Amino acid sequence: MAGLFLSFEGIDGSGKSTQARRLTETLRSKGHAVTLTREPGGSPGAEEIRRLVLEGATDRWSPETEILLFTAARRDHLEKTIRPALARGEIVITDRFADSTRIFQGITRGDLTETVDRLHALMIGIEPDLTLLFDLDPAKGLARATARAGVELRFEDMGLAFQEKARAGFLTLAARHDRFRVIDADANPDAVAESVWATLAPHLATG
Ligand code: TMP
Repeated sequence: MAGLFLSFEGIDGSGKSTQARRLTETLRSKGHAVTLTREPGGSPGAEEIRRLVLEGATDRWSPETEILLFTAARRDHLEKTIRPALARGEIVITDRFADSTRIFQGITRGDLTETVDRLHALMIGIEPDLTLLFDLDPAKGLARATARAGVELRFEDMGLAFQEKARAGFLTLAARHDRFRVIDADANPDAVAESVWATLAPHLATG
């Protein structure tokens, strides 16, 4: 597949969405064609599923049902948005992808790793070329995330221990796969944007 596929991952409140927007602007100003997208969502069907999974009570869905819903959303996102953009040769930046399911559904509430991996192999089957993990103290992340107004707080409502498990899980995953780069997300936004650029620049096609 042509194009470059990037995912941004991290616990809630890590600042990755802001950084994804900033990187998109920087790349576009340098003449690159970029599709900026997000999960859950990124296509009309997947945005409908987003509301189901991010709003409401924490016990609204079991982790197993969440795996199915997030994977259904991802499949639609892949078909309608990601694959077409990569086929046009664009840089795709997705704010979350399958690693979020591996962590938030796979390990935070019992071990469902194998279920996540099997469904991923069956229905999704691709990984990003590069994954930037925005790492920071979960207490700071949660404070930032809950300070935002809105109704998409189902995962934030699962509490600090949940976010701590997620952070540890992301770091373990990052240590296992070469495609990961860990970014210190505790620095100020300009410094974080500089680390993002320094990390990405070597992967951009030149000439
Ligand atoms: P966001 O705050 O980055 O938009 O992410 C929305 C929430 O969805 C976040 O709390 C993590 C959660 N999530 C999962 O639990 N599994 C997934 O597969 C994805 C993509 C997100």
